[in-house]
Amino acid sequence: MEPLESIDGGRFDAVFDEAQRARALRALEAGQVLYFSHLAFALTEDERRFLSPGCADGRSKNISYDPQAGILKGTVLTGDERARLQAMVARFAQGARVLVEGLFPRYTPHLAMGRTSYRPIEAKGRASSYRKDDSRLHVDAFPSRPSGGRRILRVFSNVNPEGRGREWRLGEPFEVCARRFLPGIRPPLPGQRWLLKACGITSGYRSDYDHYMLALHNAMKADEHFQRHCPQYEVTFPAGTTWMAFTDQVSHAAMAGQYLLEQTFHVSVQDLARPEGAPLSVLERLLGRPLAGARG
Ligand code: SIN
Ligand code: FE
Repeated sequence: MEPLESIDGGRFDAVFDEAQRARALRALEAGQVLYFSHLAFALTEDERRFLSPGCADGRSKNISYDPQAGILKGTVLTGDERARLQAMVARFAQGARVLVEGLFPRYTPHLAMGRTSYRPIEAKGRASSYRKDDSRLHVDAFPSRPSGGRRILRVFSNVNPEGRGREWRLGEPFEVCARRFLPGIRPPLPGQRWLLKACGITSGYRSDYDHYMLALHNAMKADEHFQRHCPQYEVTFPAGTTWMAFTDQVSHAAMAGQYLLEQTFHVSVQDLARPEGAPLSVLERLLGRPLAGARG
């Protein structure tokens, strides 16, 4: 399987024909990265002032925006400047939404918008601990926001003004990866997840699915031999391009690059064309039991 599938379209509100939509859907759900080589998120002259790591507050790795609540976090900017940065990030969120809805109308009814992030910090060498080190191959799983089985779909645009690419590595298909690590992962302890919720560490109950996804994420990142020797590709997303993937499924690592916008969506498994390819279904098959409910 090729790691990337190229999709034509030079606008976030491009109209895709039936054949393009079918090809994109098949590729996305199979675990490929959809790559839009002509789709740039253009910044206005005024917004170019935000192309500086000085916009970030130095504590969080990203500037993050909650499109539902309209709240921006992780920036030192205040007043009018802050409002204009927020407007830029919100405009990206809207563009990403129009793109996803245009390409995947079947996801639209239950499509939920997660956070938007702006990443003005150089990706190379920014990690603090191995679990937070996104330059190690991993699948995405959130420690504090349980998904309950919903998919993580992410749209990325490289807005680097100096023409620098975003350098990634892409790893093995999800099932190969899951088979490799599942034997070493222990089931959740009784009571542990109730405690996580009661202490406010998780915002909801961590389901069995979230437990295994987080453990898989951590096990992949912890395994140095795997990181170096598993089959993998290096890909560079040039400045002025956009790409999207189910990052809960696609093994990925960000090696270098600066100035990225990212939008997270949650897609329900029931809306997929092939639910049997979702990490939830693969893990349930490999473990021989259902995982999504809030049990234990
Ligand atoms: C990640 O999702 O692991 C990082 C992506 C990036 O910052 O390029
Ligand atoms: Fe990631």
